[in-house]
Amino acid sequence: MTGNINLQLGWPSTSLFPAAQLLEGASSVLSSQKKTALSLIYGPDAGYEPLRRSIAKWLTSIYGRGSELSLDRVCVTGGASQNLDNVLARFTEPGGYTRNIWMVEPCYFLACPIFTDNGFQGMMKGVPEDDEGLDIAFLRKGLEQSNKNAGSDAPTRKTGDKYQQLYRHIIYCVPTFSNPSAKTMSLTRRQELVRLAREFDALVVTDDVYDVLRWPAEKIANYEKLGDVPPRIVDVDRTLDGGPKDEWGNAMSNGSFSKIIAPGVRVGWAEATPAFTLALSQVGATRSGGCPAHIAASFVHEMLESGSLEKHLQMQVLPTFRTRYYAMLQAIDDYLVPLGMHISTGKPYNESSGLTNGASNGHKEPVAQAGGYFIWLLLPTELAGKGATLAAKGLERYDLKFAYGDMMQVQGEPASTERAAKGYGNGIRLSWAWHTKDEIVEGIKRLAALVGEARNEVQP
Ligand SMILES: Cc1ncc(COP(=O)(O)O)c(C=O)c1O
Repeated sequence: MTGNINLQLGWPSTSLFPAAQLLEGASSVLSSQKKTALSLIYGPDAGYEPLRRSIAKWLTSIYGRGSELSLDRVCVTGGASQNLDNVLARFTEPGGYTRNIWMVEPCYFLACPIFTDNGFQGMMKGVPEDDEGLDIAFLRKGLEQSNKNAGSDAPTRKTGDKYQQLYRHIIYCVPTFSNPSAKTMSLTRRQELVRLAREFDALVVTDDVYDVLRWPAEKIANYEKLGDVPPRIVDVDRTLDGGPKDEWGNAMSNGSFSKIIAPGVRVGWAEATPAFTLALSQVGATRSGGCPAHIAASFVHEMLESGSLEKHLQMQVLPTFRTRYYAMLQAIDDYLVPLGMHISTGKPYNESSGLTNGASNGHKEPVAQAGGYFIWLLLPTELAGKGATLAAKGLERYDLKFAYGDMMQVQGEPASTERAAKGYGNGIRLSWAWHTKDEIVEGIKRLAALVGEARNEVQP
C-alpha cells in the first residue's frame, strides 16, 4: 500500500458523512413555508427552538437523568470551538478579575489559540493528569498560589448588567475519551473537581464531544449494551451536594455534532444552569447576527427528530470506529509492543452499571469502555524526547503523519515544557477516525519500521 497515511487527523472519514440524511432534513425544512420562515430568519439568541427541544430529549436519553432536561439549560452553538470563544467573552476578564486558564496536560493544543485570542497569553497553566484524570492536589496548589499573586479582586472593565457573572479561573478539560490522552476521568475525580471549582470561583469548561462514541475496551462478541455514559461535569455540578452553588453554577458542557455528523455542519450545543445559558446566548455577536449555524441547526433537528441520526450512529459510525479501534489495538500489539512501546490511556471507566451482556460470554462485571477518536502511546524509553524528530522522519521516509507529545504543551508555560521533557512529551497520539482499517494497519507497520530504525540508531 502506498500513499500518505495520516494518523494525526482527528476528522471523520468523508465516507461516514450522512449526506442523504442531511439532504432529507434540508428538504423537509426548505419545502415547508413554516419551517423556512423559522430557519432562514435571524436565529433566536438561544438557537433554533425545535433543535433545543430535540437536543434536550436526546441528552435525557443518553445521560439517564431521571427527569427530562429542561429547555432553558440548553442553547445552540456554532460548535465547541466557537462556543469556547463566547464563554470567554462573556464570563472572563483577562488580566483583571480572571487570573488563569488551567488546562489538562497534555492539552488539546488547538484550544490554546482560542485562549490567547481572548487575552490569556501567558496566563495558561498546565495540570498533569494521572490514570484517573487531572491531578486535583496539583490544581489546588496552583489555584491557591494564583490567588495569592497580585491581581484584581473585583472586575474593573467588564462591569454592569451585561457581566453579572465573571469567574476567577477557567478549568478546561475533555473528561471522557480525551483528546489527546484518550483518558476518561473517574467519577471521584469529577466530584473533586466540581468541589474545587466551587471553592475557587472557577468555571469548568468541558468539551464533551466524544461521549457517545464508545464500545467495550476489549473485543467481545455479541455484546448487548454498554453501561451508562460517564456523567458530564455539568451533570455532577447539577446534582452534587444539593446542586449548584448559585444560579450560575461552576460547569458548562460543550457538545458538538462535528464528530458524529460532520465537522462542516458547525452545529453544537451548550448546557449549563438556565442563568448561565441565557447570559451565554446574549454575547454581542449573537445579539447582532442571531444564533450561529441557524439553517444547519434546522437540518440537524430533522435528523434528531426522525431518528436518522441515532440510526446513523448505530449502523455506521459506531461499527466503523469500533472495528478500526480493534484493528489498531491488534496492530499495536503485533508491531509496536515488541519494540517497547505501550498504550497509556489510563484507567478505563467502568463505574456505571457496565456491560450487561449476560452469562452468554461470561462477562458479569461491568466492562471497561473505550471510545472517542484517539489512542495515546508511549515511545520506548531510549527514544524519549525524540517525538518531533520521529514525526518529521515519519513524514519524510514513510509518508506517515502522527501527533506527538510536545505538540500538546500548554502554550507559553515554561513549566509545561519541562513536564513534557520529563513525561508526556514521550507520548504519541494516533487516530482511527480518518483512515480505513487496512490503512490504519499499514500506518502502524510504517510506524514500527520508523521506531525500529530509530532504536537501531540510538543503540547500534
Ligand atoms: C477536544 C475538542 N474540542 C473541540 C473540538 C472541535 O469541536 P467543534 O468542531 O465542535 O468546534 C475538537 C475537535 O478535534 C476536540 O477534539
